[in-house]
Amino acid sequence: MAFTIAIDGPAASGKGTISREVARVFGCAHLDTGLLYRAVGLRMLEGEEPLEAARALMPADLEKDGLRTGAVGEAASKVAAIPEVRAALVDFQRAFARRDGGAVLDGRDIGTVICPEAEAKLFVIASPETRARRRFQEFVAAGEDVDYSRVLEDVRARDARDMGRADAPLRPADDATEIDTTHLSIEEAVAAAIAAIEAAGGTR
Ligand code: DC
Repeated sequence: MAFTIAIDGPAASGKGTISREVARVFGCAHLDTGLLYRAVGLRMLEGEEPLEAARALMPADLEKDGLRTGAVGEAASKVAAIPEVRAALVDFQRAFARRDGGAVLDGRDIGTVICPEAEAKLFVIASPETRARRRFQEFVAAGEDVDYSRVLEDVRARDARDMGRADAPLRPADDATEIDTTHLSIEEAVAAAIAAIEAAGGTR
């Protein structure tokens, strides 16, 4: 049976970690939709036309090294503002969402545009400073040379672009449950997500 769990939120809100845990707990497939835009962004940085890259995207693109870097995240946020690029990625996401056994999709517009009929919807947020600190620590762990104030600036710029774009801007669906992870541990955030999904009819 198909049961779709839509998890949206800004960069570094904790939605990726929550989504992976939720998929494990409920035993369903997981698609990090940001990777689709990152893969298109990476191809753009390599000189390809973003729309052609989106149309030619292959599963192997989602396995490429370097998708998690700051530069590719920035490129992803830019290509994600192009309506034709978004349109080229819709069918793949919808098919994934309706697969048997259930699916978790995390991104920016899953509950609003990709799967407005999703059985469970979460909107994960955290303060910009908290998110910048998390991203900064990830970059340091990955050996990237960055400074915190620059990461905070980037988080704010990315929020402005993701929320301000005309097509499928980042915003909570009316029926989404908000989870603010600013003062939550990973375990607490995951527990809140599981409780909300069970309240929406999800079974483990
Ligand atoms: O979640 P992320 O940081 O990997 O996403 C990278 C960019 O992709 C983000 O800035 C906006 C875009 N994105 C989007 O527009 N819609 C999605 N469903 C997922 C990501």
